Amino acid sequence: MGFLTDFARIWLTRSLKPFRFTNVYDDFLPYQDTEKLGLYVHIPFCESICGFCPYCKTLYNKDAADRYIDALLQEIDIVGSMNQGKKDVTSLYFGGGSPALVADNIQRIISRLRKYFIIEEGIGLELHPQDVTEKTLSVLKQAGVTKISIGIQSFQRESLDVLGRKNVDFEGMFRALSAAAFETVSMDFIFALPGQTIDILKADIEMAFNNGANHIAVYPFIDFTFTKRRFPKMPEGQKKSLLYQLVKYCEEQGYIRDSIWTFSKDGISKYSSMTRENFLGFGCSATTLLKDQFKTNTFDVQRYIERIEKRKLPTALTLKFTVRQRMVYYLFWTAYTMRVNSGGFNSFFDLSLENCYGLELWAARLFGWIRKQDDDYIMTMRGSYYYHYFEHFYTLSYIDRMWRLMRNEAFPKSLTIR
Ligand SMILES: C[S@@+](CC[C@H](N)C(=O)[O-])C[C@H]1O[C@@H](n2cnc3c(N)ncnc32)[C@H](O)[C@@H]1O
Ligand code: SF4
Repeated sequence: MGFLTDFARIWLTRSLKPFRFTNVYDDFLPYQDTEKLGLYVHIPFCESICGFCPYCKTLYNKDAADRYIDALLQEIDIVGSMNQGKKDVTSLYFGGGSPALVADNIQRIISRLRKYFIIEEGIGLELHPQDVTEKTLSVLKQAGVTKISIGIQSFQRESLDVLGRKNVDFEGMFRALSAAAFETVSMDFIFALPGQTIDILKADIEMAFNNGANHIAVYPFIDFTFTKRRFPKMPEGQKKSLLYQLVKYCEEQGYIRDSIWTFSKDGISKYSSMTRENFLGFGCSATTLLKDQFKTNTFDVQRYIERIEKRKLPTALTLKFTVRQRMVYYLFWTAYTMRVNSGGFNSFFDLSLENCYGLELWAARLFGWIRKQDDDYIMTMRGSYYYHYFEHFYTLSYIDRMWRLMRNEAFPKSLTIR
């Protein structure tokens, strides 16, 4: 497998150079002229820790959360004041952890961001089902949140049991949702759990769409090397068949697939913190992606606070892209929406997509992975399966390695990914 990633990287980046992340970072982030910039804020606190979850999180306690919020506001000041005047940004997303545990502070964080940024498309926030109460939703709405995504994982007791999730009051959650109106209510599910059949998935999807959701995300279960899986993995062939049946069912119902794993009930409601061309990340483990660099903050809450108290950026690792590396990054994340626009690539790089990757586009069309429509390359059903397969592989070879290191060392020296 190592040989395959090596080959793919060398071929696509047209260079022998690996992805090399180092602890040398810029004190000044050059985002001033960046277009289509999104914002992300990470809140790393949870009521209890789920064994399957790879994200950066720690158990909630009020003192630690208060100190974290103070540091977060300072990080916003440090980064925000690098630009003169207010910068237009597309959107703001809060992820975690469980950001609703600090619901009373969300307004302060948004106000601080609004001092430096003009948020054009709305504000999203991730919720644990047990946080979905009328009171919390009303606090979030007043703070300016317009989109929510709820980590249901499954409505089925057997699936919740294998994931180690305690009983959740879904009826209470539905009542709370019916009392609050958000532009997008998305619900997250995990598929490829033991015993999961297409009928079980259909029932979950209908339960979501009949009880307040207008958008869903169905993520394949990812078995990170540092998480605890307490159940057998679904064989790849069965997973593929389930994915095909799921997509077919959603299409028959008229739900619109708006990215590899997400479907919108009406085609309008969207929830995605992943598909921005560029973004600034605030908080522990948050990443920043700009034209020439990718950087990640430390995963260690205490060391994050200490860095900020010294008025220094909490950056742990930075990758300075070669142009081709940035192209691969751009194409990989844009393809997540199942559509790559040739003009969009052209205006980002000032180079033609066809000149840079003509052979790959030709081969992908020959294999039936993509089709061309006007200026767009659209992923076919077959292509989306291979993308999904590749994304899984990428997550285990790249993200897993980086997160495993970052969980063990607050500020590692370097990381080389081949
Ligand atoms: C940070 S969590 C969601 C927010 C909230 N803390 C919760 O648990 O509901 C984001 C989503 O990632 C997905 N997720 C977590 N671990 C996963 C894994 N190992 N494989 C696939 N998806 C996973 C879940 O669907 C989850 O809802
Ligand atoms: S799944 Fe959600 S609640 Fe569970 S540990 Fe991860 S972030 Fe926390």
